Amino acid sequence: MTFTPLASPLRIALVGFGPIYDLNVLAHRDNPDVEVMALVDPDGRRREQRQADWRDAAAFAAVGELAKSDLEVDAVEAMLPVALHAEGVVELLGYGWHVNLHKPLCCPVQRAGGSERPPAAGHGELPLLRAAPAAEGGDRGDPVTT
Ligand SMILES: NC(=O)c1ccc[n+]([C@@H]2O[C@H](COP(=O)([O-])OP(=O)(O)OC[C@H]3O[C@@H](n4cnc5c(N)ncnc54)[C@H](O)[C@@H]3O)[C@@H](O)[C@H]2O)c1
Repeated sequence: MTFTPLASPLRIALVGFGPIYDLNVLAHRDNPDVEVMALVDPDGRRREQRQADWRDAAAFAAVGELAKSDLEVDAVEAMLPVALHAEGVVELLGYGWHVNLHKPLCCPVQRAGGSERPPAAGHGELPLLRAAPAAEGGDRGDPVTT
C-alpha cells in the first residue's frame, strides 16, 4: 500500500463547537498547512460565535448541508457529542472526507461490536482499565464530599 500525502493546505471543516473546540482550534490557528473552509453546528449561536474566528469559512447547520454545497473539503475535525460518534463518523466518512474523531469511538462500548476495550479517556486508558474492576465489584469505597 502506498501513502499519498494530501495536498497542502489541507481544507478542513470544523464540526461541533462545544468546549473542546477551544483546545482543538489551537492546531489550526495561524497554521499555513490548514485552511478552515467550513463550520458546522446545529446551534446558531455557537456558529455565529465561531464565525468570528474564521470569517472566510462558510457556516452550516448540518454536515449534510456542507456535503450538498459546492465547497470542497479534505478532512473534518469531528467534535461531536459522544452519543453521536458512531453514526456521525459513518456519515462523515460516507462523504469521502478524512475524519479526525475526538474520542471515544463508540459509546456504549457494545456498539464497537462487543469489544472488551473501554473507550479511551483524556487521562489515559490504563487508569480506567485498572479502576473498572474495583468500580464494578463495589470495592471503590464511599464517596467523600469536602
Ligand atoms: N481530544 C480530547 O482530548 C478531548 C477532550 C475532551 C473531550 N473530547 C471529545 O470531544 C467531543 C466534543 O466535546 P465537547 O465537550 O466540546 O462536546 P459538547 O457535547 O459540549 O459539544 C458538542 C457540540 O456539537 C454540536 N452538535 C450536536 N450535534 C451535532 C451534529 N449533528 N453536527 C454538528 N455538530 C453537532 C453541539 O451543538 C455542540 O456545540 C466529545 O466527543 C468529547 O469526548 C475530546
